[in-house]
Amino acid sequence: MRNLPSYEELLSGLSWSLAERELGYQPGEPLNIGWMCSDRICRLGQADKLALIWEDYLGNEKRFTFDDLRVLSNTIASFLVELGIQPGERVCLFLDRVPELYIGFVGILKTGAVAQPLFSAFGDESLFVRLADAKTSAIITQKKHLHKVRKIREELPELRHIIVVDAGDSPLQAREVAFRMEQAPRVENFAVYPTTAESPSVLHYTSGTTGQPKGAQHVHYSIVSQYLTAKIVLDLRPDDTYWCNADPGWVTGTSYGIVGPWSNGITQVVLDSGFNAERWYEFLAKRRVTVWYSAPTAIRLLMKEGTDLPRKHDLSSLRYLASVGEPLNGEAVIWSEEAFGKPFHDTFWQTETGSIVITNFPGMPIKPGSMGKPFPGITATVLNPRTYEPVSQPGVAGLIALRPGWPSQFRYYWRNEAGFQAKFKNGWYLCGDRASLDADGYFWFMGRDDDVINTGGHLVGPFEIESALLEHPAVYESAAVAKPDPVNMEVVKAYVTLKRGYEPSPDLELEIMNRIRKRLSPLAMPQEIEFVDSLPKTRSGKIVRRILRCKEFHEPVGDLSTVMNE
Ligand code: PRX
Repeated sequence: MRNLPSYEELLSGLSWSLAERELGYQPGEPLNIGWMCSDRICRLGQADKLALIWEDYLGNEKRFTFDDLRVLSNTIASFLVELGIQPGERVCLFLDRVPELYIGFVGILKTGAVAQPLFSAFGDESLFVRLADAKTSAIITQKKHLHKVRKIREELPELRHIIVVDAGDSPLQAREVAFRMEQAPRVENFAVYPTTAESPSVLHYTSGTTGQPKGAQHVHYSIVSQYLTAKIVLDLRPDDTYWCNADPGWVTGTSYGIVGPWSNGITQVVLDSGFNAERWYEFLAKRRVTVWYSAPTAIRLLMKEGTDLPRKHDLSSLRYLASVGEPLNGEAVIWSEEAFGKPFHDTFWQTETGSIVITNFPGMPIKPGSMGKPFPGITATVLNPRTYEPVSQPGVAGLIALRPGWPSQFRYYWRNEAGFQAKFKNGWYLCGDRASLDADGYFWFMGRDDDVINTGGHLVGPFEIESALLEHPAVYESAAVAKPDPVNMEVVKAYVTLKRGYEPSPDLELEIMNRIRKRLSPLAMPQEIEFVDSLPKTRSGKIVRRILRCKEFHEPVGDLSTVMNE
């Protein structure tokens, strides 16, 4: 067992310039994440090392070396260039966790275009909102998701190409084109577009309280943070087999499911299958996973199955466990010690931060229930919500805030300057979360500071759900709020008032739920709909979700002086 550095040693020894040096990047030179994750690793003599071992739910397997990753991403890149995709244009990845998703991401970046990954479980409405906002030029998808794209493409004049990776003999329609990554002629050499540090790289959509989802724009320089945090926080070492079970439709699945591991030349494994405890343990054992990056909801699902099941599998390869997305409760840390003989290390970050910002490090004493301390190079604090000054006393709740300027910070919200500006106060970036700091400098998460619902680690915006609810002919007004849930932490609950002539009924509830599931996603589907006569509103007529949320959480509502009808 090697000696791990203490937090203080890490603080003094780490800097972003160290990452630049290790990546061989000189400020001012071209910098391209796609090249860094593939060609560079081959040049380091690792062309034959496995980059990806992929398995689907049936157990079918595919293996790709770093040289395969280099050549196949070239192949995708030159296909896109031949279609006329220009640097800076958005290319959406709307795929299950198939190899084309991971390799396509690298390929898009090599052309200088912007990768826009979207969760393949999104329904047509969620997809439409994000493609229309981003003015996306091309979408790479599978046959099984094509019907959703076909439904909306007439309203998306900018969407010039619909690329289908498994079209087979299926008839294609206008603007659709087939591309078989592994059957296409392999492109050995591709002139990678010379993006620079500030060139746009990835556009990830995330939900806020107001308005439709916002596109957080990242740049190629983000690799500096992602490389270093993957190496230090996830403790990645050359002979690791790494599993990040997050979907690249969300930021964890790109920052730490593609860029972090591959820029470090690490072999990663992917399971393209939904959650199943037995299957996951089998996968961990069969693949001899050493480092596993997961999420509290998954851990709670595993906890439900008890500790006998993990003991039936040989999980001795596991060396390091980390988690992200929601509060990692103390019990989950303690359970993982029992089940795996190791704790999960909590990591905190966001779509906007692009990389881990507050975390528990290997070698640092864990306080179960705490998110740990800032990553060296990140200045994080807790601000008084009125003055936006750091709170001086331990244990006092405030807003989590970061000093702007770390490499993977998002550069703007796509076409939403006002939303971007609203995230900064008094020289700090506000995460939109509340926490307290203890006397040792550990952060303790308390909750969101807005109405966003965090269900199973995925943020869902109330506005998006309410807009979809209002499209139902029976719905007059609606409010979507979080409701506590033992596994997903929060689920969506909708309060609905009905139009004249409609009566509440279980059938109507089911119909509305299904509609949201299909149009938005299973995550956004309300688990419960409560039909009410009226919703609490301010004097100016704005629905006050806070009151409904507090009711669900049995919390005191606080000041109601601005509320009209409660
Ligand atoms: O509320 C925090 C919660 O997830 C939000 C970020 O969500 P998203 O942008 O979708 O990115 C998720 C994965 C990076 C945060 O503002 N969150 C994330 N990690 C934690 C967390 N809440 C508590 N503890 C965490 N470790």
